[in-house]
Amino acid sequence: MSPVLSVEGLSKAFGGLMALTDVDFEVQEGEIFGLIGPNGAGKTTLFNMLTGLSKPTTGTIHLLGQDLSGKSPAAIARLGMARTFQNIRLFGAMSVLDNVRVPRHALDKASLWGGVFGTSRSRRREREALDLAHELVEMVGLGARMHAPAASLPYGDRRRLEIARALALSPKVLLLDEPAAGMNQAEKQDLSNFIRVIRDRFGLTVLLIEHNVPMVMGLCRSVAVLNFGQLIAKGAPEDVQADPAVIEAYLGVADARGADDEVAIGGGVNNA
Ligand SMILES: Nc1ncnc2c1ncn2[C@@H]1O[C@H](COP(=O)(O)OP(=O)(O)OP(=O)(O)O)[C@@H](O)[C@H]1O
Ligand SMILES: [Mg+2]
Repeated sequence: MSPVLSVEGLSKAFGGLMALTDVDFEVQEGEIFGLIGPNGAGKTTLFNMLTGLSKPTTGTIHLLGQDLSGKSPAAIARLGMARTFQNIRLFGAMSVLDNVRVPRHALDKASLWGGVFGTSRSRRREREALDLAHELVEMVGLGARMHAPAASLPYGDRRRLEIARALALSPKVLLLDEPAAGMNQAEKQDLSNFIRVIRDRFGLTVLLIEHNVPMVMGLCRSVAVLNFGQLIAKGAPEDVQADPAVIEAYLGVADARGADDEVAIGGGVNNA
């Protein structure tokens, strides 16, 4: 089976700093793929390149067999890649519902003349987009707050709203950049369940950046570990966790395999 996403020889230089060096990996359809590594390892930089926000210095990315080189973020979104951000990016003054509805609307409009001429086809698509937005807002448990401004929501709800907004783009691949940051233990558990539910409901492939090692190990079928821009391990969670290079570089900082789920090595600094 060919991978949904494949990354080959990917590097990114910021001046003299190599944020990523020669990274290769593949993600299979339907899996939840974990990406871990200490602060500054290059995880967000990788997501920025996958979504076209930042151009690779070298290397290629294929989404469903298509080369993403030179494609704009909107074109990549249309091909099926959507993301959430490490620092939540919502339209604070807009309603919860509009936060979910508007990005989809913008993407459709940019690709369809019908949006300009107001054809019946475009009206039907708008209707469908609104129905989907309603469904997604209900699904993330925000139905009762649908008309409230996004800025009025508590933190955990805003994180879920960001996920709903990404889902409104009907992605095939969903990239989540530290979605559990700042959540308590119960919220993290809920979020893990929620990620599985949306994967199944929408037939998604998910890439998850997360510092909380027990969460990643519980949720992901494969895990890749970045350290100073290098991919130092990838494979099944139990193999990666036992890899001496990983223990040395990352897990060795504390006993991440312990029962204490608050272990989140290096985690939590929102810098991107
Ligand atoms: N636009 C930029 N210009 C210069 N350097 C950058 C830029 N973006 C990221 N970097 C640097 O690249 C490296 C990787 O950063 P990145 O944000 O990808 O790490 P991360 O793994 O997401 O870390 P964290 O876990 O803290 O979110 C860091 O040294 C960072 O300072
Ligand atoms: Mg980051």
